[in-house]
Amino acid sequence: MYKELIQKLAAGTALTKEEYLALIRNREAVRDEAARLASEMRKHYYGNRVFIRGLIEFTNYCKNNCYYCGIRAGNSHVERYRLTKEEIWDCSDAGYQLGFRTFVLQGGEDAYFTDELVAEIVRGIKRRHPDCAVTLSIGEREYESYRMFREAGADRYLLRHETANCEHYEKLHPDNMSFEHRMKCLRDLKSLGYQVGAGFMVGSPGQTEEHLADELLFLKELQPQMVGIGPFIPHKDTPFGAEQAGSAELTTFLLSLIRLTLPNVLLPATTALGTIDPTGREKGIMAGANVLMPNLSPADVRKKYLLYDNKICTGDEAAQCIECLKNRIRKTGCDIVTDRGDFRITED
Ligand code: 5AD
Ligand code: FES
Repeated sequence: MYKELIQKLAAGTALTKEEYLALIRNREAVRDEAARLASEMRKHYYGNRVFIRGLIEFTNYCKNNCYYCGIRAGNSHVERYRLTKEEIWDCSDAGYQLGFRTFVLQGGEDAYFTDELVAEIVRGIKRRHPDCAVTLSIGEREYESYRMFREAGADRYLLRHETANCEHYEKLHPDNMSFEHRMKCLRDLKSLGYQVGAGFMVGSPGQTEEHLADELLFLKELQPQMVGIGPFIPHKDTPFGAEQAGSAELTTFLLSLIRLTLPNVLLPATTALGTIDPTGREKGIMAGANVLMPNLSPADVRKKYLLYDNKICTGDEAAQCIECLKNRIRKTGCDIVTDRGDFRITED
């Protein structure tokens, strides 16, 4: 019966909240079928190609205080750093040599990086590497800022909504952060023509299976080009330091459901998934994911960008990371490729 539901979803029929909920609750019975159909769906649009994005974590300063996040302003144990624009450009040069054709600039919400400075950094990367895509992941800003970045050449923007449920949002964030503003940001980004990435943590404190069913409905409605999900992992110096982590098994199942709900979505197997389970990223790819985001940040700052405890790949050189990933991914039957990996509307 649940298998039929999965097949219905794979055939393109929209599911109701109750149907998603039934699948989530009975996932053990359908996990394999879901992964099989999700892999087929991914193949249909993207073949066996897995895209890589070079992640440049350029500042761990953040004005916000999300209860889950290790680099929250209130965490005084963090050694703060900022890369200079030249260092960021050097990272992109090194990444280009390694084959990266997408750079993701990720950072906390850091006012030091004014709109003008961010735009200058984006322009610099695009001037050096006109064949590359630039993705920003620097949190909430206003429409006018997003417009400037787009004009400077930014192609994509990642802004996880974190939860589609307003009350739950308030349990994860202090009062000065607003669910409405986050949603407005996502709408603004879409209207400016960015390829937009939304997403949420799996197993964040207070999250229920019903919330997860709502996440899938929300994604179906929003139609983002990218969806980032990963297990919640507690960071010891945050208010959620003693909470339970999310699981790899639920995360991979949700990856399959997301692939089947948004067939051509760009879907990363995240570092958090690889942290909670040593073969999590491979499992993610086999469940329907098709993107990996290895770290391109200079080796000496990696251990300072810890959103959660025990984060993987904080020591290696970027070059080592990518070789290791290529070998691992080959075993899943997929291959890492080095094109820009834009969102596709057409089939393979
Ligand atoms: N565990 C897992 N993911 C986290 N993020 C932030 N803190 C954690 C954590 N403790 C995720 C959030 C954020 C993204 C950059 O990282 O979803 O949007
Ligand atoms: Fe920086 Fe959440 S703590 S945005």
